[in-house]
Parts: sequence; C-alpha cells; structure tokens
Amino acid sequence: MQRRPSAAVLLLLFVAVWSTVTGDPQVNVLNIGCSQYKAPSPSTFFANLNATFADLRANISASASARFATAQQSSGSNPVYALFQCRDYLSAADCSSCLATAEFRIRNCSAANGGRVILDGCFLRYESSPFFDQTTLPGNQGLCGNRTATPAGAFSASAEELLLDLSTAVPQIENYFAAAEQGGVYGVAQCVRTVSESGCADCLQVAYGNLKGCPPDAEGRAVDAGCFMRYSDKAFFPANQTVDLAPYLKSGSSSKKGAIIGGVVGGVGFLLLLAIAGFLWIRWSRKHGKTERGDILGATELRGPMDYRYADLKAATKEFSEENKLGEGGFGEVYKGVLKNGKAVAVKKLTIANARRVRTDFQSEVKLISNVHHRNLVRLLGCSTKGPELLLVYEYMANSSLDKVLFGDRRGILNWKQRFDVIVGIARGLAYLHQEFHVCIIHRDIKSSNILLDDNFQPKIADFGLARLLPGDQSHLSTKFAGTLGYTAPEYAIHGQLSEKVDTYSYGVVVLEIVSGRKSNDVNLEPVTQYLLEWAWKLYEDDMLLELVDSSLDPNEYSPEEVKRVLEIALLCTQSTVVARPTMSEVVVMLLSKGGLVLQPTRPVFIDATSRVRGDASTSSKSSSASNAAYSNTQPSAR
Ligand SMILES: *[C@@H]1O[C@H](CO)[C@@H](O)[C@H](O)[C@H]1NC(C)=O
Ligand SMILES: *[C@@H]1O[C@H](CO)[C@@H](O)[C@H](O)[C@H]1NC(C)=O
Ligand SMILES: *[C@@H]1O[C@H](CO)[C@@H](O)[C@H](O)[C@H]1NC(C)=O
Ligand SMILES: *[C@@H]1O[C@H](CO)[C@@H](O)[C@H](O)[C@H]1NC(C)=O
Ligand SMILES: *[C@@H]1O[C@H](CO)[C@@H](O)[C@H](O)[C@H]1NC(C)=O
Repeated sequence: MQRRPSAAVLLLLFVAVWSTVTGDPQVNVLNIGCSQYKAPSPSTFFANLNATFADLRANISASASARFATAQQSSGSNPVYALFQCRDYLSAADCSSCLATAEFRIRNCSAANGGRVILDGCFLRYESSPFFDQTTLPGNQGLCGNRTATPAGAFSASAEELLLDLSTAVPQIENYFAAAEQGGVYGVAQCVRTVSESGCADCLQVAYGNLKGCPPDAEGRAVDAGCFMRYSDKAFFPANQTVDLAPYLKSGSSSKKGAIIGGVVGGVGFLLLLAIAGFLWIRWSRKHGKTERGDILGATELRGPMDYRYADLKAATKEFSEENKLGEGGFGEVYKGVLKNGKAVAVKKLTIANARRVRTDFQSEVKLISNVHHRNLVRLLGCSTKGPELLLVYEYMANSSLDKVLFGDRRGILNWKQRFDVIVGIARGLAYLHQEFHVCIIHRDIKSSNILLDDNFQPKIADFGLARLLPGDQSHLSTKFAGTLGYTAPEYAIHGQLSEKVDTYSYGVVVLEIVSGRKSNDVNLEPVTQYLLEWAWKLYEDDMLLELVDSSLDPNEYSPEEVKRVLEIALLCTQSTVVARPTMSEVVVMLLSKGGLVLQPTRPVFIDATSRVRGDASTSSKSSSASNAAYSNTQPSAR
C-alpha cells in the first residue's frame, strides 16, 4: 500500500478520486527527498523529530479547519523545524490521514537531518535549520501526465488561462489557496502560509512556467518548496470548494503576460492565442534559461552537497583557463564552469596554507555550509576533494559583483530603489548567518566584491563560512586571509577580537559605498581626499550627510529622509564601541521602519591602509597608541 505508485496506479487513483471526491486523503507521492547527511546525534535528533511531528499532529487535529502547521524544537544542537500543509479542499479527517501517510513516508529518510514528501493531498518537510520563508528552490519541477485531453487546442487554452489566473489570484488570497474550474479544467494553487505575498507570487510564477509545457496533457502538477499547482480535466476536489477568482484579477496587479493573453482571448481566439502563448513561452524560457526542469530529482538541498569529480570540473572550466577566470578572492581563484548538463557553475580553487589540516575538517564544513539556504546567500552546491586541489562549486551569478556596478565600468547602472534593495538584502543575508542558522557563522570578509548580484540585481553574499576552514590561530593575522583593509573592524584587525559585530562594521562600510559610489579605501577621489568613513562622519557632524550621495543618482527618485536614515544606520554599524553596533536583524528592522532613528551614532575609529590608527580621543588615547603598534606588527605591507 505504501509502495511508490506507478503511473498506471496514479491514473486509477485519479479516476477513483474523481468518482469519490470526498473520503480520500490523496496520498500518491509526487516527490520525495532526503538529505544525505546525518544529524550530529541521531538519538537526540529523533526524539526532537518525534516531538515536532507530535506537535504538528496536535495542531492539525486541534481544530476542524486546521490545514497548516509549523513546529520546531529549536534549542540544543540537534534542532528540528517542520512544516505541514494540506490542500485546503481536503476534509479534516483526510488531512489528518494524509499527515499520517506523509510522516510514514518521510521516516524512510532514516537519520537524515532533512526530508520532504509532497503528496497530492499534502506536503510535509523537516530540516535542521529554519526554512519557512523559502519559496522556490532548485529541484522545482513540473510533472505532466501522459494522457491527452480533447479537444487539445481548446483544453490547452483553458488550462493556461486557469493556471495564469490562479497564479495571479492566490498570492492575494488569505491562506494562499484557491481551487477553481474554468472551461472544463480543474485547478488548484497553493503557497505555504509562512511566505510573503511576493514570495508566493514568485513561486507560483515558476510553477506556472513548469506547467505551461504540459497541456494538452490532461493533467499536470508543479512541485516546489513553497508552493504547489495542479490541474486536470477531471474534478479532484469537491464542487463546493471552488472560489471566484475574478475579484483578484481585476485589481491591476495581474501580470503583464496575463493582460496580453487576456486581451488576445477577448479579441481573436484560441488559435492566435496558442501561437502567441507559444511564442511568449519560447521567449520567456530562452530569457530565463529554463534549465532547472528535470535537472534533479528532488531538490539539491535535500541531497546534501554533491561530490564532483575533479576531472569533470577541470573539463567544465576548460582546464581552469584564463578565459574562464571570474576573479580572485581571499581563498583562491574562481572560474566559470559549464557542466555536462549545460548548467553554469562557479568553481573556486582553494589555496589554503596547510591544506592537509584543512582537508580533515573539509567535508563536514562543506556539509554545514551547503546546508545554508537563503535567497541572499550564494548556494554552495558541492565540492571535489580527491584531486590535487580542493574545489568548491557554487551557483553561478550572472551580474557579477557589487563593486563592478558601483565602481567598475558599469558604474551608475543601479538606481536608488535597486541600491536600497541591495542594502536590505545584504542585511537579511547576514542576519540569517548570524542569528537564524543553527550555527552562528561570522563572515569576516564582507566587502563589495564579495556581494554578487543575480539577474534581478538581488544581492547574494559569497564566501561565507570559508573562514571557518582556517586554523583558528591564523584567522585574524593577515588581511590576506580574512578581512580587507578599509572594511575590517578595528578590534578584529588589531586584537583579533571576533564577534558578529565584525560583520556589522564591514556592512556599514559597504552601505556607505553603495550610497556614495565611492570606494572605502580610495583617498584620491573628488571632492575630498579622505577615507569614505572619515568623510561620512565629518558630513554627519556638519549635518550635511546628503553631500555623500552618488551624483549619478537621480534626486527625483529617492527621498532625502530615507537616504539620510540609511547613512545614519551605516554610521551606527561602524561605531568604535562594539556593543553599540546593532545586530544585523536590528539593522533590517531599522531599514524597513519608516520613521527617524531613535539612536544616534557615535564616532568610529579610523583605520586606514597606511596602518595609521586614529582612535576616538574620547575613549582612550592609551589604548589607541598601543593598538597602533599592534596593528603595524601584524599588518603585512598594505596592499
Ligand atoms: C520516534 O518515533 C518512531 C515512530 O513512531 C519510533 O520508531 C522511534 O523509536 C521514536 N524515536 C524516539 C527517539 O523516540
Ligand atoms: C500548535 O501546537 C503547539 C504545541 O502543541 C501550540 O503551542 C500551538 O499554540 C499550536 N498552534 C496552533 C496554531 O494551534
Ligand atoms: C525508501 O523506501 C524505498 C522503497 O519504498 C527504498 O527503495 C529506499 O531505499 C528507501 N530509502 C531509505 C533512505 O531508506
Ligand atoms: C503512461 O506512462 C506509463 C508509464 O510511463 C505507461 O505504463 C502508460 O501506458 C502510459 N499511458 C499512456 C496513455 O500512454
Ligand atoms: C461541501 O459539501 C459537502 C458534502 O458534499 C459538505 O459536507 C461540506 O460541508 C461542504 N463544504 C462547504 C464549504 O460548503
């Protein structure tokens, strides 16, 4: 009974579902995946997992209307986070029954510290770190049926229209769920309730893309981490569960594509519609390089890091050729690689002294880092450990790094809105690393060249976790390893005092760069010959902060109050007193709150490339000169 059903069984089930729409928990499995690696202490982890599942069960059976629950055991070193969701059309009894099946199936993951199972009727997932805000992840896919509906043309047109309407409407609906029927096509769309409205819309957009190729197949399903979509020519939910989508489609928020297709439907008819939809689809998929579909069975995040063969990566990067080189970071050179399946990746060749010692911890660190998932953090996909060098494989970012669009040949292309989004995104990524991931990861090397930008100029922080690979005693001694002059918090550069506030400081410097379009460590820029931080502080004292704003920004597109608030937050981050600096989650809150700041920044310590340390005279001139000596001793020649 719990065997993975074949397509034929699915079909039978489908018919059964159609004839008896109630009293069926719809437990055929669409997608199942387990993490490859094990929890640190399986017995504790299992106890936590059992407790978490028990909470889910209690929540779901607590009320007749409950169709969604999260639960967590977040203390200790074996945390468990779990989420369960039923399709809202299931009865309470079917929902509980679907949970029981899902739980049974996911137990098959044995001691893996993460797993998920997606059934027609429900979705269950657990991980050892929080994931409730995740929307779309690699591994998302469309599952088309192999039965063709008739008449094919009309069915395809109705199906596409219904799916588009669902993906437009559902993000606006409370509970993020809708079932609807249009022109003989039945469909549902659903997001997990813990994502944002825009996250839901993004996820359904991807799901829609994954399903668009299915019609005229009579049925299709799209699975992802944060949403689900399904259509069929047969009813798979009770008739009284449908909602009227019309009120959600009028409000001008429907996507452009929807407007185009809608207009065409009204005016011309199905054939033209199909031609245009096909054309748009081809264009869309070219533009989006839709390689993800069928890329993997079950998302990579559930499979743990990939073990790549050295020879494959060597071939993918054309033997680490100069032409494929993307850049050079603190930990080695980075190359663009194209894998055999056509997927572009970034391959980092690690050059770490004492690599033997590193190798022992390498695999466990890679596992840890690859388990970090956040939309503002670059994904580590895997590694290669058997070749002459250690290689790390990352997702590839098309728009290169922030420094290039701030200071490079593409300078000036980011408007204020985009810059603000980058500022917020970096803060979110860091807040996740510091506070939300179950191990606090301090980046230690936040700088604009470590912030990569995706197709939509959303920031993704690179190179996090790598400093953990360094032997502890070396970590602060040389800026070559961790920390770049101009971005490094003085207490870390000088005394090696490491805390997450080290990243807060560097973040503040990066924010100043983003707003001003000036490099933090360049003193030869008009209109002043001062380091950025010094200049910013001086302008703050003279109440002239807006002088700092990049002249390439159009003054009509930003509000002076907002820019000023952002700059003051940057100054709060760079204060010399470590405890006075805000945590990154406080930074996120301050950035997103509209009013003025309650806190006033105090003076930063100025530390610059020529190893001068000009301390805040009011704190202690003694420690400042002592620092000076220590600093010049440990500092290798500055750049
Ligand atoms: C957790 O629950 C499963 C299934 O109910 C059981 O087999 C296992 O012994 C439990 N483990 C712990 C640690 O309680
Ligand atoms: C879910 O269950 C937990 C513990 O059993 C409880 O504290 C929480 O209030 C419940 N939540 C809902 C929404 O019922
Ligand atoms: C899960 O169950 C299937 C059979 O139902 C089996 O082939 C597979 O090896 C199991 N996986 C694990 C991790 O136990
Ligand atoms: C659908 O696919 C399954 C297995 O892939 C096959 O057994 C079945 O005959 C197919 N049905 C049709 C109508 O092609
Ligand atoms: C839908 O109909 C079923 C019986 O067919 C009934 O039990 C259920 O309460 C109805 N649901 C709603 C929301 O009206």
